[in-house]
Amino acid sequence: MPRHVAIIMDGNGRWARQQGKPRQAGHKAGAESVRAVIEESVTAGIEVLTLFAFSSENWSRPEKEVSFLMDLFLRALTREVKLLQEQGIRFRVIGNRSNLSSKLVDTIVAAEKRTAGNSGMVLQLAVSYGGRWDIVQAAQKTARLVADGQLSADDIDENSFSQQLSFSDLPEVDLFIRTGGELRISNFILWQAAYAEFYFSDTLWPDFSADSLRLALNDYANRERRFGRTSEQLGVKNAKA
Ligand code: FPP
Repeated sequence: MPRHVAIIMDGNGRWARQQGKPRQAGHKAGAESVRAVIEESVTAGIEVLTLFAFSSENWSRPEKEVSFLMDLFLRALTREVKLLQEQGIRFRVIGNRSNLSSKLVDTIVAAEKRTAGNSGMVLQLAVSYGGRWDIVQAAQKTARLVADGQLSADDIDENSFSQQLSFSDLPEVDLFIRTGGELRISNFILWQAAYAEFYFSDTLWPDFSADSLRLALNDYANRERRFGRTSEQLGVKNAKA
């Protein structure tokens, strides 16, 4: 079972088009899949679920669609925070908050505070998030540590640098899922996906159900994760364990 699952929820627009509906209807239906996948993840015992809700690049969509999505996040969060709390879920948002409305930021901060003490699954929503943005903000923080004399340039290594990235306190991403049939990362977690297993599904996000997630988890269970080693080395290690 993966400890950390990250999902690119793609295909809302195409789902809506297939139904002869506006794109917004696809996003609304997508919100229902979010709920189903959260519940199945809790049931399956996943420790961290990271959902890519809005990328740095999504700001260039038509203004009407952007404001619909922002409103959808605001309403969903306001409505669901009680449920998250009841399920013991710890809620967090990753991404560049400086682009978000103060009302949305306030609602996010309130939900994070309210659920901070929970010990169940961590639910991370990536909003206004980009993998490159994350690496750049980590570089800025690292540079500041050096300028303040708290870190020497020679001590910058993978470990110290990665501590400045988003969710460095959480387990590494084990399983990276993308729905909607496209075979790309689209600037989602870049550094953090270094050793993730990838699973691409043709299913459009609004059709992605608890069963679809179980299929992905079963597929993951059959992967051999070698982290650069050989199967034989892993065999030896497993034999000892
Ligand atoms: C990608 O599909 C989806 C998005 C950019 C938005 C994600 C939003 C949701 C899943 C809905 C609500 C989420 C929460 C957390 C309440 P697309 O629009 O790119 O689809 P397309 O590729 O078919 O056009």
